[in-house]
Amino acid sequence: MKARRVSGRTARVRRMTSSDLTNVIRLARNSPEIQTGTSAAQFYSEGALRRWTRSRSGIALAAEVGDAFAGFLLALYSSESTDSYLSDLVVAPEFRRQGVGGLLMAEAIHSMRLLGADHVYCLVKGNNAGMLKLCEHQGFELGQSFVWVERML
Ligand SMILES: CC(C)(COP(=O)(O)OP(=O)(O)OC[C@H]1O[C@@H](n2cnc3c(N)ncnc32)[C@H](O)[C@@H]1OP(=O)(O)O)[C@@H](O)C(=O)NCCC(=O)NCCS
Repeated sequence: MKARRVSGRTARVRRMTSSDLTNVIRLARNSPEIQTGTSAAQFYSEGALRRWTRSRSGIALAAEVGDAFAGFLLALYSSESTDSYLSDLVVAPEFRRQGVGGLLMAEAIHSMRLLGADHVYCLVKGNNAGMLKLCEHQGFELGQSFVWVERML
């Protein structure tokens, strides 16, 4: 897994474990950038995240700076389409603009390639300049805007 120096401490990316889930859920709940504006649950349940960390097609990563939880990334690989969907990437506010998001993204792309993916995509709000910039930084191309549409089954 990848590591780099951040403000004199080492930032590391590793697989998410069940002991990260409280931090992951808290950070997600405090991130308006990932809210969809519908009445559906706005983030995954603890059970869903637990399954994600154990899944062969799930990529669930956590970042640490020193001993502190610094962020997470969730992605899914589909062997049928050979696509990867980057579902969520969030870095804790105090660790932003220090390379942690880039580190998580680079490790996720590495894992996607190992799984067999030849394509990765994500949904980003049009006003989320930071994430759009990070994606461009990582070689993503920006396309058209879509409306979020969903229903519960
Ligand atoms: C978007 C986010 C994940 C970026 O994480 P990060 O750790 O700050 O990103 P990095 O430090 O690796 O940034 C890498 C590059 O991306 C670009 N970038 C990142 N954040 C930026 C911002 N707020 N404004 C402009 N450019 C930004 C810069 O080019 C940056 O390189 P630089 O710092 O050398 O200029 C983080 O801001 C975040 O968690 N935001 C809230 C949640 C969110 O929006 N998630 C995405 C939902 S789709």
